[in-house]
Amino acid sequence: MTPAWKMLLKKSEELVDTKIIDLFANSNNRIEEFSIDFENMFLDFSKNIIDKETFELLLELCENCELKKNINSLFNGDKINETENRSVLHTALRDFNLNSEIGKELLSDRQKIKKFTSDILSGKTKGSTNKKITDIVNVGIGGSDLGPNMVIESLRFYRTELNCHFVSNVDGDHLSEILKVINPETTLFVIVSKTFTTQETLTNAKKIKEFLEKRSINDISKHFIGVTSNIKYALEFGLDKENIFKMYDFVGGRFSVWGSVGLTVSLAIGYENFEKFLKGANKMDEHFKVSNYDKNIPVCLALISIWYNNFMSCETEAVLPYSEYLKFLPNYLQQMLMESNGKCVDRFSEKVDYQTGTVVWGGTGTNSQHAFFQLLHQGTKLIPCDFIGFKSSLHGNDDAHNKLMSNFVAQTQALMVGGSMGDSPFRKFEGNNPSNTILFDKVSPESMGMIISMYEHKVFVQGIILNIFSFDQWGVELGKSLASKLLTEIESKNILKHDASTKNLLDKLINK
Ligand code: F6P
Repeated sequence: MTPAWKMLLKKSEELVDTKIIDLFANSNNRIEEFSIDFENMFLDFSKNIIDKETFELLLELCENCELKKNINSLFNGDKINETENRSVLHTALRDFNLNSEIGKELLSDRQKIKKFTSDILSGKTKGSTNKKITDIVNVGIGGSDLGPNMVIESLRFYRTELNCHFVSNVDGDHLSEILKVINPETTLFVIVSKTFTTQETLTNAKKIKEFLEKRSINDISKHFIGVTSNIKYALEFGLDKENIFKMYDFVGGRFSVWGSVGLTVSLAIGYENFEKFLKGANKMDEHFKVSNYDKNIPVCLALISIWYNNFMSCETEAVLPYSEYLKFLPNYLQQMLMESNGKCVDRFSEKVDYQTGTVVWGGTGTNSQHAFFQLLHQGTKLIPCDFIGFKSSLHGNDDAHNKLMSNFVAQTQALMVGGSMGDSPFRKFEGNNPSNTILFDKVSPESMGMIISMYEHKVFVQGIILNIFSFDQWGVELGKSLASKLLTEIESKNILKHDASTKNLLDKLINK
């Protein structure tokens, strides 16, 4: 336990009854101290149960855990994914100034994405029956699905004429509904899998192959693209070498949307917009690298989260984008945050005796106001929230946007200030519910790049302070391996010895 950590434990007892509004009353410059202006964004973190002294102690945590050294390791591509013996270098995918060998290779990957996007959009590259491609189906799961899906939905306003679909689930209904609406002659299937061994993705890819064959598509290779680091398996599956886009060992699935996994994004919004998206992320990288901790957006967000998670007994945090375009952001962040920091063993292989990753959830405002906000306002749980909003709309309907944004601000105010709407206890609002307000100019490729990079670095900083490895995900393996054994039992109708509940369920499945 570091010295600052010990002091923070004491501080938390002191602050438990502190009212955020009193912190404002006792300071002339709380907004200046607890906010950051950067490029086209503004972070206001003044509405938190954090006083100046607490903030300083939180900043000390960064020194205690040598954050600067760790940030340098991240950008240098050091082998910080120790349990998989891998380097981590997803930030290189959005760095346009890398002169190294890998920088050159990444540049050539981007050129390949650019050319392919242009050839598909212009109709130069066509399907096997010489028809222009109209639909793209991204076939992948986890990081090979959530990133492109969320980014494309967020940037729908910037879309090219291609229709995009996503198949992730091994549930056959997912694929079959998509196959109902596409024309195989004008559809390109992008099989995205870093390992090219993922059960869900390969099952769907094989089914698609059968589907194309049944529909008499002669040259299937014209309808299949692969995005993978396992070229051998992709070739064995039947993909053409030039139709394979590379993924790298040093980029984890949940951090991969910036590279070839972003091919679908480039097709969906055009390469120029894809590049703006990368550049937005790179701007946040530079900010993260050089800014003092007290004015460093990802660092401050991480420290606030640590404060609530480790000192104020909060178990969850909500992300609330006030834009329908960003409706998949909470989903996406669930993988990024929970797969990264849902760990119970520290870097010394010891079981931790403190909380690690928080549960992240959320939804878009104002829809969520009419769903779960009741619990935020009057429930018994303290749930810190990130409110993400945009000054201007893309549609130009000012009437609607003013209404949306008045709700955006009103909610953060109501959560903090509380109040009463009558004498009855049922109409009382205690307030003192913390939130961060993150305000961008508008939804754009650049702002989306910044948002994602901001959360990536937040997660990284949390992992460092919590002394856990953020870049592996061993927790997903046991279930996968059990499922493959149970599949053999289900298929052969030969159920082996299990606990009573599992056996009973398997019996029900085979005796239907
Ligand atoms: O099961 C978890 C996971 O390994 C994720 O981390 C990853 O994004 C996903 O599966 C898909 O893996 P792949 O891209 O290798 O198919």
